[in-house]
Amino acid sequence: MKSTAEVAVSKAHAVIALAWPPAYNDRMKHTSHPSCQTGDWYEHAFDLARGIATYTRSPLIDGIARVIAKHPDAHIANAFNHKQVACKIWARDTLLEVAGPSYGKIAILGGWYGILGAMLLEDSRFEVATVDSFDIDPDVEAVAQTLNAAFPGKFRALTADMYGIDYVALQADLVVNTSCEHIADLRSWLGRIPAGTRVLLQSNDYFSEPTHINCVASVEEFTRQAALTTVVFAGALPTKKYTRFMLIGTA
Ligand SMILES: C[S@@+](CC[C@H](N)C(=O)[O-])C[C@H]1O[C@@H](n2cnc3c(N)ncnc32)[C@H](O)[C@@H]1O
Repeated sequence: MKSTAEVAVSKAHAVIALAWPPAYNDRMKHTSHPSCQTGDWYEHAFDLARGIATYTRSPLIDGIARVIAKHPDAHIANAFNHKQVACKIWARDTLLEVAGPSYGKIAILGGWYGILGAMLLEDSRFEVATVDSFDIDPDVEAVAQTLNAAFPGKFRALTADMYGIDYVALQADLVVNTSCEHIADLRSWLGRIPAGTRVLLQSNDYFSEPTHINCVASVEEFTRQAALTTVVFAGALPTKKYTRFMLIGTA
């Protein structure tokens, strides 16, 4: 039997953590489609992202709030959906484990809105001097720059075809491409990177997505396709709709 004081304390906690009386006694409501659709959804998303940024103190989430405000047409929710984030956390954690925390210049190809760059720059376990994020789509450059506004002088978004970059002049000590499913000829692109450069590559078996022109069915097929000089990590991460594959090694 709880004392009156204990009941008061547990009710007080319940007021903080849960609605009182408990929400599970309410009639079920739709959670995915609110009944009152509002035209100012972007304003709500912006407020929410800013609140989460304040709560988490994450420069990346602060960058997402800025993108929502400044680039309302950017598909930021797609780029930052939970599967995309899980795949990039997997990349970041595995990189740390197999290749360590220190990098002079990281080059990210097919870098899209610069999320992976921000994830690496804000992670205090890493020491990264600079990140160059290249993408062939000119529309993503300004968005990536906004998203990484917290890292002036450390992050650059550049519009370029990854097949046209001078990788010798670039002098990156890590080359990342998590968009290999979008690349017509992976081997010919890898051939442009100086031998011995550390690389991190991801692809997937999401064949039904029309923009995926070069999916692979397994990590073994990805390993054969990339034909890296050395491989220190080869793995698969199943998600609900597809499996993502990753290789870390040298070109
Ligand atoms: C949809 S996004 C990224 C998907 C991937 N799952 C990820 O998050 O890393 C693929 C990006 O690759 C870019 N891309 C495709 N071909 C490219 C090329 N030849 N050079 C540079 N970027 C390219 C596209 O413009 C696009 O922004």
